[in-house]
Amino acid sequence: MRFFSGILFGFFLVGLIIAAVVATGGYNVAATASPSRIETRVAQFALNRSVSRRAPAAKNPLPANPQTWAAGFEHYKDNCVVCHAAPGVDPSELSMGLNPPAPDLTLPRVQGRTDGELFWLVSNGIRTTGMPAFSPTHKPDQIWQMVSFLRHLPEVTADEQKALKGKE
Ligand code: HEC
Repeated sequence: MRFFSGILFGFFLVGLIIAAVVATGGYNVAATASPSRIETRVAQFALNRSVSRRAPAAKNPLPANPQTWAAGFEHYKDNCVVCHAAPGVDPSELSMGLNPPAPDLTLPRVQGRTDGELFWLVSNGIRTTGMPAFSPTHKPDQIWQMVSFLRHLPEVTADEQKALKGKE
């Protein structure tokens, strides 16, 4: 019994310390402040668990061909490259001030996500980061076009790079 009340008291104390830090303004919300390692880990863990629970199991219904990539390319140029850049395309000034940073979408940890997870992330965005939700402005088939383009992004062509460069 004393063991359990000790654990409860421990939780209470941790809660009290967190509340005190927040209430006194000790938590720095500046985008120029680096998060602690524990904050990054907890946020990354929460993101992965949340996405894998909510993402649809569906595979991308669109064929992986140049027509689909061309449609996805237009969305990427207008809505994504400013934050995420692209292979051969330098990061924009705006993206350099983002915290958390907008990741390179060709990274294995992003490409390793299922189609459904990418669809969910682009549709719903990630709250309290710069990542917007695109479902309020795009239809599901347009979001699948973006997912198709994300799969093509690691092999972006020289012409596509050129067109994206003006937009970074
Ligand atoms: C205003 C900046 C901004 C724009 C515009 C933006 N993103 Fe993001 N995006 C972010 C940030 C910041 C993150 C990282 C959030 C985090 O670390 O939790 C992110 C994360 C993501 C992720 C999750 C990566 C992962 O696996 O962890 C995907 C996928 C993504 N964005 C795709 C897109 C696509 C596609 C578009 C355009 C349709 C887009 N983003 C537009 C800022 C942006």
